[in-house]
Amino acid sequence: MTRVAVYPGSFDPVTHGHEDLVRRCRRFADRVVVAVARDGTKAPLFTADERVALLETVLKGEAGIEVRSFDGLLVDFAREINATMVVRGVRAVSDFEYEFQMAYMNRELWHELETVFLVPGLHLTFLSSSLVREVARLGGDVSQFVHPEVNRALRAKFGA
Ligand code: PNS
Repeated sequence: MTRVAVYPGSFDPVTHGHEDLVRRCRRFADRVVVAVARDGTKAPLFTADERVALLETVLKGEAGIEVRSFDGLLVDFAREINATMVVRGVRAVSDFEYEFQMAYMNRELWHELETVFLVPGLHLTFLSSSLVREVARLGGDVSQFVHPEVNRALRAKFGA
């Protein structure tokens, strides 16, 4: 049986924290589908296509990992790709409330789908896409937090 995990998110943009989680997922899933939500509630910095392209660059050549985007409900997308688990990263207690709500709602929508929470490497727990965007917007150096191509894309967005 092939174990398929879906790792959904905004990835606006992908950081070393996301990369760390994708690789951890591969330890227990045969196939990991990194799924960029097109219908996010926030106004993203990068378009969905740009976010997919950056993820593909960052994860290029890694076996068992693919990048897709999806519209609509996560549970419908998970069914479509035969995923049996959703993987989400939790970094701090503050993440838990939102994550629990989503996990229970997704379970109500599709009982077969399990949510698996992973913690990133300790040195990455403070990292978030929103902080990376803010630091980059204000001209700070984010090169240690993101892949060089993502750094380049951020600099291009902010005209640096
Ligand atoms: O990286 P984020 O922004 O925390 O990811 C949130 C995401 C994309 C996983 C969540 O908003 C989502 O699953 N959106 C798809 C629409 C959906 O299924 N909504 C109900 C979730 S309970």
